[in-house]
Amino acid sequence: MEYAVEINNLSKEYETGFLRKKRVRALDDLTLNVRPEQIFGFLGGNGAGKTTTIKTLMRLQFPTAGSARILGSDISDVKMHRRIGYCPENPYFYDYLTAREVMSYFGELFGYDRATTQRKTEELLTAVGLDEKDWKKQLRKYSKGMLQRVGLAQSLINDPEVVFLDEPMSGLDPVGRREIRELIAGLREKGVTVFMSTHILSDIEALCDEVAILRGGKLTASGNLSELLSASEGVRSLEINVEGVAADAIRDEIDFIAGAEIMAKPNGATIQVADEADIDAVLQITRKAGGHLASVHPVKQSLEDLFVRTS
Ligand SMILES: Nc1ncnc2c1ncn2[C@@H]1O[C@H](COP(=O)(O)OP(=O)(O)O)[C@@H](O)[C@H]1O
Ligand SMILES: [Mg+2]
Repeated sequence: MEYAVEINNLSKEYETGFLRKKRVRALDDLTLNVRPEQIFGFLGGNGAGKTTTIKTLMRLQFPTAGSARILGSDISDVKMHRRIGYCPENPYFYDYLTAREVMSYFGELFGYDRATTQRKTEELLTAVGLDEKDWKKQLRKYSKGMLQRVGLAQSLINDPEVVFLDEPMSGLDPVGRREIRELIAGLREKGVTVFMSTHILSDIEALCDEVAILRGGKLTASGNLSELLSASEGVRSLEINVEGVAADAIRDEIDFIAGAEIMAKPNGATIQVADEADIDAVLQITRKAGGHLASVHPVKQSLEDLFVRTS
């Protein structure tokens, strides 16, 4: 199997407003392939169409046009859905059930016997970092972060080959985010394909091999993350940090260097230049004013630059 997920010309329009006469195009001709056994980052700002895509793949709603395959089967194939997992954006379960009961319910849905369900429940609730003392609490007493963890545990109960996580880090504090990151990285080690939507760039940078960026329902960039970041090397610049001189004392002279920019910082300044050849000029100006060099380093395009430019 070449791809774990194949999305072909998928579009989704919602009918809204009075008498459902207005149509909102939430997803516009999306084509995308996801290779197996990797963590795929599905990026986009609010309203970009991430949840729409995932819900359509999960068959919770029908596409207006286009098709998609998961594990080689069309998304209408019920048997395929037994082999995948899904954690919705804001997992919602019946409030009066406990985490243990929710897991038993899903275990039974997949036809596991009582002992297997119990073993998986304990393994997974531990893996997502829920304290054993909380397993017997009703979910109405859970925080958003705890519910998120139950949602993740639930999505893994059938040992899925592909798991779809819609904003899995939402509602988690920094420690919780780190724990869930490690859990997701562990899934890849086990050969699971993870399709993860998020708008948190640091999670993408820490976890993902390949990404797609969505804007207004359209794909604006996709591919290997490091290749995407180095694709536009032209925008790279050099950052020179100098000390022992005030920015204002050298600003006029720096302004003569084409493309150079200077910013004041405590006890010195940071100067960005476009060309390596400009470093000498900056150093001369700095030394003349009584300052000295602290550091020089290349500024690579960050995921944030890419995200802001393409979305
Ligand atoms: N059930 C719905 N009815 C009407 N419009 C919707 C519905 N769900 C989403 N939308 C609209 O579709 C667009 C994409 O939303 P969504 O897929 O939730 O984006 P994301 O998950 O990237 O934040 C938004 O403009 C949103 O308002
Ligand atoms: Mg969403």
